[in-house]
Amino acid sequence: MPVKITWYGHAAIGLELTGKKVLIDPFLSDNPVATVKATELQADFILVSHGHGDHVGDALAIAKRCDAIVISNYEVTSWFEKQGVQVHPQHLGGGFAHPFGYLKLTLALHGSALPDGSYGGNPAGFLITTFDNERLYFACDTGLFGDMRLIGEEGIDLAVLPIGDNFTMGPDDALRAVKLIEPEHVIPIHYNTWDLISQDPEAWADRVRAETQATPHVLQPGESLTL
Ligand code: NI
Ligand code: MN
Repeated sequence: MPVKITWYGHAAIGLELTGKKVLIDPFLSDNPVATVKATELQADFILVSHGHGDHVGDALAIAKRCDAIVISNYEVTSWFEKQGVQVHPQHLGGGFAHPFGYLKLTLALHGSALPDGSYGGNPAGFLITTFDNERLYFACDTGLFGDMRLIGEEGIDLAVLPIGDNFTMGPDDALRAVKLIEPEHVIPIHYNTWDLISQDPEAWADRVRAETQATPHVLQPGESLTL
């Protein structure tokens, strides 16, 4: 079954995996580049990488409306659970077989305080192994780290990497990340939401094509890629 990935701008991603709708970091209402409203999206599962507002976004409202299960680290899921949402806590290095595939939380170098200042534990990335054995790696908000090579050893079909700089990896380090991970396909995210993270994704894609074996896909907000 093909995997469909939709980028909603910033770090908001929609996945259709084995008939399940999975959202990652659904930041839409306050997202200046989003082309859809939070109320237009459906979800069975919502993955939240860390507690920052541009990732928690509309997760609470969507989870309540859709009866979706929020998956994140223990600290972030506890925050959602207190607000009446179904959750599944995991933690870094731990994997679980969900109805959409096997999800492992990976290391991310970042912060995780929640919008009300609550402790959000350690931030995470997501490694999803689909039922067709496709491996999708979402680095989420992170700086470059050498252990991306270990993630790459799993054989990554698609890597989704931040390139915005300032809060996360910039284009240079994201290119180094591609060299460590060696994915077949790569999608850049977390750029051009605000001036502070303004980047030229096509210039970055040219460097990926010139210096690595990966195929870059620069999406417009609202655009999908099917693999
Ligand atoms: Ni963040
Ligand atoms: Mn962010």
